[in-house]
Amino acid sequence: MANELRFDGRVAVVTGAGNGVGRSHALLLASRGAKVVVNDLGGSRHGEGKSSAAADSVVAEIKAAGGEAVANYDSVEDGGKIVQNALDTFGGVDIVVNNAGILRDVSFHKMTVQDWDLVYRVHLNGTFRVTHAAWPHMREKGYGRVVMTASASGIYGNFGQANYSAAKLGIYGFANSLTIEGRTKNLHVNTIAPVAGSRMTETMMPKEVVEIIKSEYVSPLVAYLCHESCQETGGLFEVGGGWVTKLRWERTKGHGFNPKLPFTPEDIAGKWDRIVDFTNADHPVTTEDSVQAVLVNLKSK
Ligand code: NAI
Repeated sequence: MANELRFDGRVAVVTGAGNGVGRSHALLLASRGAKVVVNDLGGSRHGEGKSSAAADSVVAEIKAAGGEAVANYDSVEDGGKIVQNALDTFGGVDIVVNNAGILRDVSFHKMTVQDWDLVYRVHLNGTFRVTHAAWPHMREKGYGRVVMTASASGIYGNFGQANYSAAKLGIYGFANSLTIEGRTKNLHVNTIAPVAGSRMTETMMPKEVVEIIKSEYVSPLVAYLCHESCQETGGLFEVGGGWVTKLRWERTKGHGFNPKLPFTPEDIAGKWDRIVDFTNADHPVTTEDSVQAVLVNLKSK
């Protein structure tokens, strides 16, 4: 294909690549020339057990198609071992796709500390562990592409997913700061909130929907975000079923009270319509943008 986006010479770590969306990312990157570490612990969707079968079968698929890949069976909680595998086998790491995930869905009043901890450990802490191990190598090279996997549940909330929502939006917060730290070193960090029919979602969606929302529809965006030509960083994207879109923060004009004078809960109530009115809303992108509005109010009174 003319102008094909290629990954020759690049090493990609894809976590949770034995099934679903991660498998699809690994296959696409490998088909475009990347050397791929196919990481998968091989446990159940609830995070129980482990097996080498899932990662092995994806590596076999990649090799059968003429690509290069190595299987890794470590948990993302041992992110250092996964990155070491990339260094030992392929001599570096250029791309990290943090994708591994589990669910422990239960309404909050029934949620155990174990349900909370395991979801946190795999999603937020696992994402941290893998990225933390790869980051110094990418900085040294002056090149890196990181994709985080969040979820609509984190962005909007979802019944029975307080643990998962917290971890998933935590991942986005993590990405926001890494974006700032990575920018001058050509390290780009983006976050996706995918929707796909997989073993994770097969009990949540009708069967006919699971069959048509293919994991393969998520991977073209991930591959583009991982490409050297892509200058996007700090983005948050919803992606699934062939639909790709970007999200941003929106802030109302608000109301500025005079901070030199006392103002009361009743004053807040009196201005409530204005405080929550999104007409002509702003779209702050930095912490400085946020603080600026406060300073402007302080100085204008
Ligand atoms: P999946 O269950 O098909 O695949 C997840 C893979 O991660 C599995 O192969 C599993 O063995 C692996 N894994 C789990 N814990 C691991 C650990 N500690 N270390 C290494 N590997 C581990 O799920 P799916 O749907 O492909 O999900 C992929 C990612 O996308 C997850 O982070 C999920 O939370 C996220 N996501 C998926 C959505 C969907 O609609 N499928 C919706 C929103 C987010």
